[in-house]
Amino acid sequence: MTPKPNLMLASDRFKLGIFSANCSGGMSITKVPERWEATWDDNLKLAQMADEAGLDFLLPVARWIGFPGEELTFMKSVLETTTWAAGLLASTKDITVITTVHTAANNPVVVAKQVATLDQIGHGRAGINVVAGWFKPEYEALGLNLPSEHTVRYGYAQEWLDIILKLWTSEERFDWDGTYFQLKDVHSDPKPYRGSVPILNAGGSPEGRGYAVRNANYLFTPAIDLSRSITEVQQVKDLAAQQNRKLDVVTFSHCVCRPTEQEAQDYYKYYVGESDWAAVDYVVKMQFATAQSFPHDLLALIKERMAAGHGGFPLIGSPTQVADGIEALHKAGFAGTTLSFVNYVEEFPYFAETVLPILEQRGIRTIRP
Ligand SMILES: Cc1cc2nc3c(=O)[nH]c(=O)nc-3n(C[C@H](O)[C@H](O)[C@H](O)COP(=O)(O)O)c2cc1C
Repeated sequence: MTPKPNLMLASDRFKLGIFSANCSGGMSITKVPERWEATWDDNLKLAQMADEAGLDFLLPVARWIGFPGEELTFMKSVLETTTWAAGLLASTKDITVITTVHTAANNPVVVAKQVATLDQIGHGRAGINVVAGWFKPEYEALGLNLPSEHTVRYGYAQEWLDIILKLWTSEERFDWDGTYFQLKDVHSDPKPYRGSVPILNAGGSPEGRGYAVRNANYLFTPAIDLSRSITEVQQVKDLAAQQNRKLDVVTFSHCVCRPTEQEAQDYYKYYVGESDWAAVDYVVKMQFATAQSFPHDLLALIKERMAAGHGGFPLIGSPTQVADGIEALHKAGFAGTTLSFVNYVEEFPYFAETVLPILEQRGIRTIRP
């Protein structure tokens, strides 16, 4: 069978995806009653809406334990990423569905086969987001050790991915004798349709960026201050070009789109005012303890953004203002952004009806590649 286009590889249009709909709360650490429950039925409904609207990708968060706060609700209920992706690939037509995978928690031989199977289910529409780890209590919950050295985390992640890529391209059985893995007489079939799938990597440390430069199609990184982003995006793209690689940078945004700016601001103030601040403090503390993704000098700004959309770029306003925000990301050099909403199923249709046509008119996105 001829593969379908994989929208993460198929065009240069500004990519739009949905992020974290598999987790309760989505990206917002709020206690409002309409907060996202992340049921399977709602995920399916959202995925089909996003597919119908022509979005490019769906991206889950891999999370094994929720974040403690006043109430244990933020990311308490989480649909597992690879089985989630399988169900959605079987139920959608065009959209790319990405699984997010922790290197340390998943054997690479198993992952190679899982992702190849996803690609079969979606006829070439699968992708993988590689996570090298940061959340120590989660590693402890899994009985795993999170190495404190970034060089070790990413060294492990490199060998892990090298094994997967070899399994996807090698027609021969092979042995692997590495630093972290010793494998005997291994092979994996079927292969992904194109010999690989789009690879995303989310990391902010120099080692994380180096890993993305060497391996990924997309580096996934926060956009906290767009004047910094312009330089950062260009730097990683240049680093990749020096290694004859094309690397694009995507970010993540949180959206409140309403008919008027006032309505959007009122809703933003209401749900952020109802944040579980103990959980916000916990998430910020954990991020700063073990990850380097967010610039440490922007802490105050980050705290509110963590509450609102887990640190995502704010797209708060009327349809024109939201489109302006997306255009600003495009101009800063980002190749795309994910979107999250307090309640995805209730809010996405208005975004799709009002903002997507503006982006098309402005030439940032065509209807289909
Ligand atoms: C946009 C974005 C998405 C991420 N998604 C996940 C995820 O789903 N699960 C997870 O455990 N870590 C996730 N991470 C964490 C990163 O994969 C990485 O392990 C972390 O940022 C620490 O690496 P660093 O110090 O190189 O930034 C994400 C990070 C970013 C910036």
